Amino acid sequence: MAKTNDGVLKGQRALVTGSSSGIGREVVKEMAKAGASVVVNYRRGGDKANEVVQEIKDAGGEAIALQADVSKEDEVQDMFKKMIEVYGSIDILVNNAGLQRDAAFHEMTLEQWNSVISVDLGGQFLCSREAVREFLRRGMVPELSSAMGKIICMSSVHDGIPWAGHANYAASKGGVSMMMKTLAQELAPNRIRANAISPGAIKTDINKSVWGTPEGMKGLLTLIPYGRIGEVSDIAKAAVWLASDESDYVTGATLYVDGGMMLYPSFRTGG
Ligand code: BGC
Repeated sequence: MAKTNDGVLKGQRALVTGSSSGIGREVVKEMAKAGASVVVNYRRGGDKANEVVQEIKDAGGEAIALQADVSKEDEVQDMFKKMIEVYGSIDILVNNAGLQRDAAFHEMTLEQWNSVISVDLGGQFLCSREAVREFLRRGMVPELSSAMGKIICMSSVHDGIPWAGHANYAASKGGVSMMMKTLAQELAPNRIRANAISPGAIKTDINKSVWGTPEGMKGLLTLIPYGRIGEVSDIAKAAVWLASDESDYVTGATLYVDGGMMLYPSFRTGG
């Protein structure tokens, strides 16, 4: 059996924002399993982050937990500084931290709008900028990867599907998509790759109010041609591939991991 540090990310250093729970938690664990030394970033709830660190260490991996609110420039810069102190540099950034603050359009407060935009889009900008600065400072490390650095932006099917009651969230994900593509275009000559993963409905706390009841789950499944809700492992495997040299020629791409949610399933019987 392959040892943990024999994986496709052997020797690389990965930061996964918002990785004490949900999708991020599985992504960070899968990256560690693939051989990366990882940072488990969290905003609140250090206990959960420490638990993830312990799980990774128990499995033979390397991990530390670092607290930072990704919407705060000084906290993000401080987190990168600490990561570089401990691991020497960064090779992989997964911009995963995100939240929803749902409201009907005409009732949405500026605070609800700003809190989502500043974390889900602003946080991705701040972390990507620090990662790119470090990639450029450090240069290529050919024994670790064919790319100078890799950035994976966690987006959503709502970078394309409008979503009533979630204008702030859909706007942030649409923004993530264009930020990622612009970043990819601008930095491809430096061999920095940027891609996005757009999950559909994945079973986590963020959408528990929907899948948590039989009626909710039934309604949700009408939107998923593949006939099942997504699991965090579906996303984590895609993230490891996008971070590895297996996807070396892929940049500026969005990988929809959504059981076909983007395929307009209501048109199977209409139109
Ligand atoms: C949202 C989930 C939702 C899914 C599909 C995700 O981006 O965070 O709450 O279930 O999109 O609509």
